[in-house]
Amino acid sequence: MTNKYSLPRGTADILPPETILWQNIEQKVRKVLENYNYREIRTPVFEETALFKRSLGQTSDVVNKQLLELVSTKEEGFALRPEGTASIVRSYIENSLDKKESLSKLYYIGPMFRGERPQKGRLRQFHQIGVEAIGPDSTSPYLDAEVIHLSLSILKALGLGEITLKINTLGTPQDKENFSKLLRKQLEGNISKLCEDCQSRFERNVFRVLDCKNRDCKEVIKGLSIGTSYLSPESLAYYNQVKAALTALNISYQECPDLVRGLDYYTHTVFEITSAGLGSQDALGAGGRYNNLVEELGGSKADAIGFALGIERIILALGEKLTAELQTLDCFLLSLSDKCTLKAFETLKSLREANISCDMNYRSASMKSLMRLADKSRAEKVLILGEDELQKGIFTVKNMKTGEQSEIKMENIYQEITKRI
Ligand code: HAM
Repeated sequence: MTNKYSLPRGTADILPPETILWQNIEQKVRKVLENYNYREIRTPVFEETALFKRSLGQTSDVVNKQLLELVSTKEEGFALRPEGTASIVRSYIENSLDKKESLSKLYYIGPMFRGERPQKGRLRQFHQIGVEAIGPDSTSPYLDAEVIHLSLSILKALGLGEITLKINTLGTPQDKENFSKLLRKQLEGNISKLCEDCQSRFERNVFRVLDCKNRDCKEVIKGLSIGTSYLSPESLAYYNQVKAALTALNISYQECPDLVRGLDYYTHTVFEITSAGLGSQDALGAGGRYNNLVEELGGSKADAIGFALGIERIILALGEKLTAELQTLDCFLLSLSDKCTLKAFETLKSLREANISCDMNYRSASMKSLMRLADKSRAEKVLILGEDELQKGIFTVKNMKTGEQSEIKMENIYQEITKRI
């Protein structure tokens, strides 16, 4: 007996009709993105491991614990992409997009890979809808507000209204340095109360303590008083302008001083969108500014902001509201005996060439099981071809909605079908 193969943990097969649901989501999302003048970019699903280490940070969980590296004797040093931003920035630099346009508004839809412990809403292969707006001198509070607005518009177009937008600012790299000093100072007296991971995070990258899900760590974090003293007056003014632009767009938000995000590249505005019904993995999406990443990866100075939404979490949050609109066929050809199959097969070809969606039975069977097959195909019309019809040079056409039947000459079939559909 051969072994049965099974799906890798933390991944999912997406079968019809669920694939139709995914196609509908993608179609709606693309329309919104194009309304905001974002254009699609496609990059490989794997990149040099060093790119991710440099962009996301050696101390981030995504790099430290979750990077899925490709092992090959010939090619080493590659990893499956855990997110899209690093690849897009690599491509932006490599293709000199800064020389071609002052602001590149890019989007991507595709699979991402993280070696996480799978649970509801947390997969090893998941899909993101991502947006990156990158360009020299592209820092503007209006662009921050636009990008946040775009993320909310996508969710709204998909039917998700009950969500919370959380925002914060990290400021410049110098402000971040002040922020980390402030955190260390406030956490110092409580180190022993932190989990083992956080005790080492305290030394290596104190921001990561704020992302910890451990209950004791969360208690300690609750007691922090962060404020805005770590920000320069310019950074604070910028944050206030972003908030004013959000208010101008009628967007309500929650300010969260402990929102720092798990990836190292962020500067200034950061945000997260959560949905209450999702349980512990409640982030539908997140993003923020990363004004230094292009330069850090070897490009010229270009500011940037973006976000990514998780498609599986969107589908979980939509729950009952989701119904896949099932595909229908224009017609289904029923060949009632093997003698009729060749004619039906030729007709199938010419109908398809005329852009009529159709299918047929390849083996004859009882009328009852053939009608069941036609029903299942959800065709609007069924063309019946038995030996009688073949002799007379006609098809019997059944309208599946009304049940009406009529006879149509074979040579008129294309006009009849197009006229009636
Ligand atoms: P992120 O917060 O790591 O950010 O991921 C964004 C979203 O992807 C999450 O809010 C969640 O919906 C989804 N997601 C992440 N990990 C998983 C997982 N294991 N299973 C299911 N869904 C998941 C980023 O990836 C940044 N690149 C966002 C960004 C773009 N920032 C600036 N530009």
